[in-house]
Parts: sequence; C-alpha cells; structure tokens
Amino acid sequence: MEMEMEMEMEMEKDIAMETATSMTVVRIDQFGGPEVLHRQTVRIPAPAEGELLVKVRAAGVNPVEYKIRAGKYPAVKEDKLPYVPGRDVSGEVVECGPSTRRFAKGDSLFAMPGIDRGGYAEYVVIKEDEAASRPGSLDAVAAGGVPLAALTAWQGLFRHGCLMEGQRVLIHGGSGGVGHFAIQFAKARGAYVATTVSGGHVDLAHELGADQAIDYKTRRFEDDVEDVDMVFDLVAGETRERSWGVLKRGGILVSTLTEPSPEKAAEHGVRGMRYTVEESGADLSEIARLIDSGQVKPVIVKTFPLEQAAQAQQFLETEHPAGKVVLTIG
Ligand SMILES: NC(=O)c1ccc[n+]([C@@H]2O[C@H](COP(=O)([O-])OP(=O)(O)OC[C@H]3O[C@@H](n4cnc5c(N)ncnc54)[C@H](OP(=O)(O)O)[C@@H]3O)[C@@H](O)[C@H]2O)c1
Repeated sequence: MEMEMEMEMEMEKDIAMETATSMTVVRIDQFGGPEVLHRQTVRIPAPAEGELLVKVRAAGVNPVEYKIRAGKYPAVKEDKLPYVPGRDVSGEVVECGPSTRRFAKGDSLFAMPGIDRGGYAEYVVIKEDEAASRPGSLDAVAAGGVPLAALTAWQGLFRHGCLMEGQRVLIHGGSGGVGHFAIQFAKARGAYVATTVSGGHVDLAHELGADQAIDYKTRRFEDDVEDVDMVFDLVAGETRERSWGVLKRGGILVSTLTEPSPEKAAEHGVRGMRYTVEESGADLSEIARLIDSGQVKPVIVKTFPLEQAAQAQQFLETEHPAGKVVLTIG
C-alpha cells in the first residue's frame, strides 16, 4: 500500500514536471550589490535545434557572476538586462530539441552554458555540445561546482600554456575555484607544481598534490621558485609583475585576467597572454574521465539554496573560500 502511494506521488511529480510551463529563476534587472539578485517567475524555455532543456539540480557560483551583477563585466552591458547569471549547471535532460544525438531524456549531465543562458534557474536550455555526461563518481551538487572553473584550468594549462609532462608550472591563486583544479590537472599531467596560497590554504594545496605551496602573505614566491615553463596567473596585479623573472627563457605567462604587457614579456624573453574560457563538452568529457579515475576531486566548500544566491555570491566575494560554492536547486 505504502509502495503504491509512493509510486503515485512519483508519477504526480513527473506529470507536474512535464506540464509545468513556468519556473523560478534568480536574476538581475539592474546592476548593483547582492540585493539586486531577486527571484522571478518566468516561462520555461523550449529547446531549439541542437539544444536540450535541463532540470537544474545545482549551479556553481563564480567570480564572473558578481562582476556581472556589479556591471563590471564588459560582455554583459545594460542591453542584456534582465539577466539570469550562472555558468555552471548539473542536472537532468527533460526535453531534447531536434537533431540532438548524444543525450536522451533522463540523462544526467553537467555543462557550462553560454553567457546568454543562466544556471541560477530551475530549468535552462543548453547546446548539446556544451555538455558532458555527469561523472559517475560525483553527485549532482559536486558536479555543479565543476564546469566553468575546471574548463578554465584545463584550457589555460593545456590549450594555451601547452603544459607537458616533466615541465614546471607556478599557479597563483591555487586554492580558488580555478586554482584547485589547476593544481590537480597539472599533477595528473606529470608536471612539477608550485603554487601561491594564503597561509590557511597551504595544507589543502599539498593535499591536492602541489609540490611547493607558498604562503604569499609571509613569503616572496620569487625567493622560492625559479625557471618555470609556465606561470598560470589567476591573481594579476603586483603578483603578476613579480612573476616575469621566475620564468625560464621561452616560457609563457597565461592569465585569466587582464592582458599582460608585451613589453615586459619581450624584456624577459618569454610570452604572455590572456584568454577567455570557452564552452566545450569535449573538454568536459576529458575532465569527467580524470574525475572518475580518482585523480581529480572538486572541493565543494559550501552550498546555498537557490533563493540565497545573494548570500552565496557575497560569501565567495568576501571570504575567498578554498574550492567551490554551489547553489542547490529543487
Ligand atoms: N578569463 C576567464 O575566462 C576566467 C575564467 C574563470 C575565472 N576568471 C577569473 O580568474 C580569477 C580566479 O577565479 P576563481 O574562480 O579561481 O576565483 P576564486 O575562487 O575567488 O579564487 C581566487 C583565489 O585567489 C587567491 N588570492 C587572492 N590574492 C592572492 C595573491 N596575491 N596571491 C595568490 N593567491 C591569491 C585567494 O585564495 P587565498 O585565500 O588562498 O589567498 C582566492 O581564493 C577571478 O578573478 C575570475 O574572475 C577568468
């Protein structure tokens, strides 16, 4: 009897999901502080050619989202408002648009949607080639903390920095969302990894595999590190300016922040570049394989329910926690 009731309730939930036409999102209608993030009921979008409608279970929180909220991110100007933030999604496919081939209804996936489609929502439409199957070893919440930060680390180290086995890399900001993946990816590739973190995160950096973890608050990294093939710069400013001299000739400084000075690079006989992370289901599949092999593990420091997105962004922005902050949804 109890089982029958449970089955009926499950069926009702399924039917409710299939017939729902509206959903809750957290969005901004104007730029400003955390208070501009608010809940709104909107229509559930329909997937077009090559797209999937995903029921979102978790969405990671990234610095780009509080930069956008504050009106400080060039790719999102006033003409994009109202705007739903969120570049990380894990969830299940509830509807497949025409010409989709890789995923079916009910599949669990994770993805970095394009900047025009936000994950702070109960449902989101993603392009099929932005997604990969969720790693079997992760639950939906942990998977929600992976896409943007892990793709940034992956593309920075391997696509742009061309880091290879046996090379040496210095990662600035090794305890943050991007940095904690970068340490693990570089180690998995067989590189020697030095990283700068604040004192309380030194142990974590070692646990993630760093060969050298330098507390930048008490030591000058250039006294401890030399002749690296690559500097992965997640901090910029004075930290970057002091980094040129630790590169070996022919080395490269890759930054996620502002464009490094070509003059400074030339002066030291190295290259410097900045890049923007790109959506890539193919890269996410590689990352999922590494996660399932046990070589990489996302650190989820704290979760918040969707309705507390403002508190979640504030926590990330002011506390600089190690690892990822994730919103749980539904
Ligand atoms: N271009 C792109 O496509 C792209 C993509 C992703 C991210 N980003 C940018 O890259 C940056 C890092 O992203 P994230 O997600 O890793 O941010 P995050 O999670 O906020 O981590 C940043 C970390 O940097 C550390 N830090 C601060 N000052 C430092 C210093 N002087 N030396 C060394 N570490 C320092 C802090 O850790 P401690 O407490 O240990 O100091 C902080 O946790 C952000 O500015 C983000 O907007 C750009």
